[in-house]
Amino acid sequence: MKIIKTVSQMQELSLSWLKQGKSIGLIPTMGALHSGHFSLIKQSCKENNFSVLSLFVNPTQFGKGEDYKKYPRCLKKDKKLLEGKGIEIIFAPSTKEMYPQGCSTYIEVEKMSGALCGMFRPGHFRGVCTIVGKLFNVIKPTRAYFGQKDYQQFKIIEKMVNDLNFGVKTIMMPIIREKDGLAISSRNAYLSVKEREEAVVLVKALKKAEEMIKLKKKTNVQDMINQIKKIIQTRSKTKIDYIKICHPESLKEVAKIGNEVLVALAVWIGKTRLIDNILIKRKGVKIA
Ligand code: PAF
Repeated sequence: MKIIKTVSQMQELSLSWLKQGKSIGLIPTMGALHSGHFSLIKQSCKENNFSVLSLFVNPTQFGKGEDYKKYPRCLKKDKKLLEGKGIEIIFAPSTKEMYPQGCSTYIEVEKMSGALCGMFRPGHFRGVCTIVGKLFNVIKPTRAYFGQKDYQQFKIIEKMVNDLNFGVKTIMMPIIREKDGLAISSRNAYLSVKEREEAVVLVKALKKAEEMIKLKKKTNVQDMINQIKKIIQTRSKTKIDYIKICHPESLKEVAKIGNEVLVALAVWIGKTRLIDNILIKRKGVKIA
């Protein structure tokens, strides 16, 4: 396993691999690696000749007042964790390397980027698409792996790949959860002991939605949202950004529960904003 820090070195290596007819798997990350990332790594190593993990805290996807500065940066620890996991390259460029002075081109996927988290984090998905587009151009992956926890991010990247003909196969892997159900995220590290206890209410609320749909107890969307809200509000440290029931492809809010829906939420636990979601199928449940 080697660390590459420059775009030119990475591009050169990727081109040489592709010339030999080898496939490349990319796991884009911002570091602070956890078991969610390791499930992506495992899949990439299974499906590709070579795997590259990018590790870059991308400034353009953080809004004013967000946690760009305090986002955990721990390259040494991450490198240790990656040893023996099958990755060939850690691509860890500097901010200057990815955004040299004068950089002024961005990728924006319209409509979908304004839904859900886009309503609360303007410009976030523009930053995500720009960096992911750049990583695709530098690493030239055959396949790229993302987690379902960031479902909206995945759908937007999928749309970008189709619209701009990137020719990369995007793969979404299920959410990895703690024993009590909390979706694993690098931001969980911000939670105090009390907040960590309260955070489990997110998955509890999603499970309730699943149960209501599965047992056909409730089909009225607003009723369901109200019930989920009530569950979350039982915990004192929570503040809801949104709870939405959406079409899993368009991400548009639905008026009626169809055969498959996405229930997505973003909730503050103290000063930490957490997201979670569940894909629910009416017949047989697809849950991550
Ligand atoms: O999901 C993330 O960690 C980031 O949004 C990504 C895809 C690595 C882009 O910076």
